[in-house]
Amino acid sequence: MRPESLLLHSDLTRPAAATTIDIVSNRESQPMAKAPVTVITGSSRGIGRASAELLAARGHRVVVSSRNQESCESVAEAIRADGGEACAIACHVGHEQQLAGLIEKTITQFGALDNLVLNAASNPVYGSSENVDLKAFDVIMHNNVFSALRLSHLARPHLAKAGQGAIILVSSIAALLGNRVIGAYGLSKAAENQMVRNLALEFGGDGIRVNGVAPGLIRTDFSSADRSSRPTAALR
Ligand SMILES: NC(=O)c1ccc[n+]([C@@H]2O[C@H](COP(=O)([O-])OP(=O)(O)OC[C@H]3O[C@@H](n4cnc5c(N)ncnc54)[C@H](OP(=O)(O)O)[C@@H]3O)[C@@H](O)[C@H]2O)c1
Repeated sequence: MRPESLLLHSDLTRPAAATTIDIVSNRESQPMAKAPVTVITGSSRGIGRASAELLAARGHRVVVSSRNQESCESVAEAIRADGGEACAIACHVGHEQQLAGLIEKTITQFGALDNLVLNAASNPVYGSSENVDLKAFDVIMHNNVFSALRLSHLARPHLAKAGQGAIILVSSIAALLGNRVIGAYGLSKAAENQMVRNLALEFGGDGIRVNGVAPGLIRTDFSSADRSSRPTAALR
């Protein structure tokens, strides 16, 4: 997937200028002393990687993160080779200690945190929701909902300090429509949508903006099972 094909916000498509890029609003932001630092979970592949590449190209210092340090290193290296600034910090979003480590290591590496993109998600089951056992349901809800909430709270003091902090949660069209094959995942994505509304309210007083995006079907590893059951014309 080419980074240009991903629209996080129209501001991202404008050339980088002396002003920083405001990743969720149309406001021109004030110049920052340094380029914004943006953590993107699940950014070794797919939408997360495209986001990391695009944001780096727009002047962000990006933290590439996934469960696998080596694959993150390879994406960060490719970004640096393209003239961007990036580092790799592995973090399994299902492990609370690693969430804390991701924030701490980001501060150690870059000294600040301006933006958090909550992109990593899990969906271990495909088929009728009748076949979703409690273990699978717990993984879905823990990794997609609880971890995003916990990481947001861990990031909050740093985002507040940044002055123009922003959180973007990558939800899904599955949050908005009924689905015969990814129903439990859709429940978690609907909860994420409510998390966006609630954190926007809770964090707004600190000047932190919280927004979500809800992609349709995107050609990545994550959607391979879903795509194989659909006509090609429906793919993006
Ligand atoms: N693709 C679609 O059609 C589609 C549609 C709507 C919404 N979305 C949403 O978009 C987001 C990204 O999906 P994608 O399609 O880009 O997926 P993807 O191509 O499969 O990439 C997933 C990324 O997340 C990482 N990851 C997986 N499990 C993780 C975990 N437990 N902790 C940390 N990192 C983890 C993977 O790296 P490692 O395996 O190395 O950890 C990889 O970097 C998800 O929130 C998904 O729900 C996708």
